[in-house]
Amino acid sequence: MEYSEKVMEHFVNPHNVGKIDDADGVGEVGNAKCGDIMKMYLKIDNGIITDVKFNTYGCASAIATSSMATDLIKGQPISEALKLTNKAVVEALDGLPAVKIHCSVLAEQAIKAAVRDYYDKNGIEYDEAQFHFNEAHEHGVEE
Ligand code: FES
Repeated sequence: MEYSEKVMEHFVNPHNVGKIDDADGVGEVGNAKCGDIMKMYLKIDNGIITDVKFNTYGCASAIATSSMATDLIKGQPISEALKLTNKAVVEALDGLPAVKIHCSVLAEQAIKAAVRDYYDKNGIEYDEAQFHFNEAHEHGVEE
């Protein structure tokens, strides 16, 4: 299996790994295909994601995509983070082997789940459609 240099970089030296104890939003999702789990922590200030960390039992591809995804949303407004797709993350990593695409869905879903947790905790109303996981069925991923 061929991994791009960027995937290897982010796998060997992943960014934003860990836990935020006083996180404003926490999201945990599982991948039905492989059983791996991803946990995402967000710090949110005035609608901006000021910090983000992740923990996963996922594989190299899950680690690399989460590292890249968290880099991409750090410092961004929530609205931008919700627009981030696993496809955009895979592109930023110069691609993933086709059989590994399902791993990249974990990061996108965990970010969305963490934002939803933040909204729920703060009584912020939201449109369910924003949290619709397009890839979910295709890749057999549970919410
Ligand atoms: Fe489970 Fe990649 S094999 S996340």
